[in-house]
Amino acid sequence: MMNFDENIDRKNTRSLKWDGMKNLFGREDLLPMWVADMDFRPPKEVIAALKERVDHGIFGYTIVTESLSEAICDWTSTRHNWNVKPEWLLYSPGVIPSIHTVIQAFTEPGDKILVQSPVYTPFFHMIERNSREVVNSPLILKNGRYVIDFDDFEKKLRDGVKIFILSSPHNPAGRVWEKEELTTIAELCKKYDVLIASDEIHADLVPAPYKHVPIASLDESFADITITFMAPTKTFNLAGVQASFMVVPNKSRRSKIAAIQASDGFSMLNTFGAIAMEAAYRHGSAWLDQALNYIQTNIEYVKKEVGTHLPDLKVIDPEGTYLIWIDCRKLGLSDAELKKRILEKGELALNFGHAYGPGGEGFVRMNVACPKATVIEGVKRLRMALGE
Ligand SMILES: Cc1ncc(COP(=O)(O)O)c(C=O)c1O
Repeated sequence: MMNFDENIDRKNTRSLKWDGMKNLFGREDLLPMWVADMDFRPPKEVIAALKERVDHGIFGYTIVTESLSEAICDWTSTRHNWNVKPEWLLYSPGVIPSIHTVIQAFTEPGDKILVQSPVYTPFFHMIERNSREVVNSPLILKNGRYVIDFDDFEKKLRDGVKIFILSSPHNPAGRVWEKEELTTIAELCKKYDVLIASDEIHADLVPAPYKHVPIASLDESFADITITFMAPTKTFNLAGVQASFMVVPNKSRRSKIAAIQASDGFSMLNTFGAIAMEAAYRHGSAWLDQALNYIQTNIEYVKKEVGTHLPDLKVIDPEGTYLIWIDCRKLGLSDAELKKRILEKGELALNFGHAYGPGGEGFVRMNVACPKATVIEGVKRLRMALGE
């Protein structure tokens, strides 16, 4: 059994979450519950595989082996009931660089790309930094759960959108999209000839009874118009090793993406990324089940405490991810005031909702992939900041 309660000192390890706060929030003495990485060690088999490689001592150019694609295909088949063929895979240092590549491969400057806000901030940056136009079809918060306004979604697709970037499960809304929703999305994208860029980096972080469904697994014709982005980095806390993959069943699209990667000079994963990815997918299943259970108890704790002591706040029940999206709008504070209170009175670093686009104002995002003691302290600080 992994001891998720262990408090591991991450300061001075070049950790963005722990050592990057001064840069972002202006001070470093905050409790960090922001950026999406965990304060847990990955499965011991991953650490052992990396150590073995370090002990070998030579770090030359590295090839991607068949054993890696085999490990990925086994993982997608057992965890997601999706039979991925090894030849459909393309590798990349991260989902963000991959989406950049896909934008460059299939759109021209000025083309429209659709997102669903409030959504992971870099979605906006990726579109804008490639001089494409952001089109937004905001999610609707209905009875405490985010849903898609399909009339608006279709209207936006009809208006000449080229790519739809889907966040599945959705960060920060916490939705694990259902088969029916995914089917409607894909049918509409097919109808209007829109490519689906499905960011499924949080796919593995879904506790029962919810079930992640890769949109491309639903139908061959959906797979044909979809590029799926996955990685072991959120799942097993390996963001620093920078390794991810794309699943691209359509051959000509695959060649196009590979050509853009080549023109950017990308040719291989780094040694440690490839090793960590394979070890995690081969040996990480039991670790992940334990992590999901642990995270669930953290989520339940936050829900209970916020419900009892901060009645003006509303926790959006996450169906997946380890990120809790909290509605603070009833407090009537401006975003600047909310931020100031949480940073200065609470001494707590969270992500602030306005950065997630329209509909994110007045919300905060709290990362609970950390020891229970941190969550208890975090809630205490939230009460200090926002309680009466
Ligand atoms: C939805 C989503 N996509 C992508 C990423 C980052 O992916 P990568 O580190 O592989 O570029 C994150 C990280 O938080 C995320 O939440």
